[in-house]
Amino acid sequence: MKINKNYLNLEASYLFSTIANKVKAYSEANPGKHIIKLGIGDVTLPLCKDVVIAMERAVLEMGVQDTFRGYGPEQGYDFLKTPIKEYYSKHNVSLDIDEIFISDGAKSDLGNILDLFDTDNTVLVQDPVYPVYVDTNIMAGRKIKYLNSNAENGFLPLPTENDKADIIYLCSPNNPTGAVYNKEQLKQWVDFALENNSIILFDAAYECFISDETLPRSIFEIEGAKKCAIEFCSFSKTAGFTGTRCGYTVVPKDLVYEDTMINKLWLRRQTTKFNGVPYIVQKGAAAIFTENGQKEIMENINYYKENAKIITDALDKLGIWYTGGTNSPYIWLKCPNGMKSWEFFDYLLNNVQIVGTPGSGFGENGEGYFRLTSFGSRENTIEAMDRLLKHSLANV
Ligand code: MLT
Repeated sequence: MKINKNYLNLEASYLFSTIANKVKAYSEANPGKHIIKLGIGDVTLPLCKDVVIAMERAVLEMGVQDTFRGYGPEQGYDFLKTPIKEYYSKHNVSLDIDEIFISDGAKSDLGNILDLFDTDNTVLVQDPVYPVYVDTNIMAGRKIKYLNSNAENGFLPLPTENDKADIIYLCSPNNPTGAVYNKEQLKQWVDFALENNSIILFDAAYECFISDETLPRSIFEIEGAKKCAIEFCSFSKTAGFTGTRCGYTVVPKDLVYEDTMINKLWLRRQTTKFNGVPYIVQKGAAAIFTENGQKEIMENINYYKENAKIITDALDKLGIWYTGGTNSPYIWLKCPNGMKSWEFFDYLLNNVQIVGTPGSGFGENGEGYFRLTSFGSRENTIEAMDRLLKHSLANV
């Protein structure tokens, strides 16, 4: 028996597990200290009322002979896919219901989709980058090219001849930097992919944080994208489903490589390896799309956006450079006084008991940067910023 040796090329531990272990060790060594976690992008507000009611009803249905359900369609129930289709049409994107696949979240599908592609394909990611894109390709042994994303290009790099690759990852609003591509910039990526027969894996997990109506929420708002892109989306950050697990992936039927419809391959993959998201969870997710559900989730999103404002106001007062936080739940800041990312992580944990995510965990270009999330509670966000303001960072 031989193992997949590619796994030996991975970092020993996933970024957010490393952070969790460090925080656990600190907390055990310092009992009673109130640690404020603004690291992993995990939501704190509960599921909205309509979602809970819909799930309660679904639970009751499951306990009654006539309404009990066993296996559902692997690609999701129409009662959830239909409102998703309508949601897209509000952004002038017309989808066929069979182009929507319900999943247990964007992270799983971003990894699973790679089953469809040859391991010889080259991959282009931006540095800094959400580590899942890198790690899942290392697991498969694919060659990864890195594109510099930095303050000079506003953390929104555009493709050049050197960046040709078969599989291109884009994330907008970006995790970790919070930067968002506009339509003209995304068009450059779509044209580049079409010219080079590449596929774009577009992570739209944070689309609902976009308030600027001129910015695209879906890559399919860009002409030609249906011929070169797959979009991954999630209810985790939109509606607090990080623990409940539900999202969706859009695989257009126009996506054809080597005379093969990618949509058909994905359906084949899902029907073989996936038994679908639980009925109860999908019923809850469908409630997000009712008029009241939309109102409720917008209240939660606005709450997080206000948290982001509290964080950026404090950084302004401290004179710390940052980006993001406006159309994104993430604030990407420069570590003060030239500190390195992990140094600043330790400094904040030890001195003010605030946990963030070291920028270097997202790639070499993240060194010297740090990510804070606006997903904390209001109380903790205010308390964390008070601590930062009271603590003199000048002596770091
Ligand atoms: C993050 O903190 O980057 C995200 O929460 C991770 C994820 O969504 O998997």
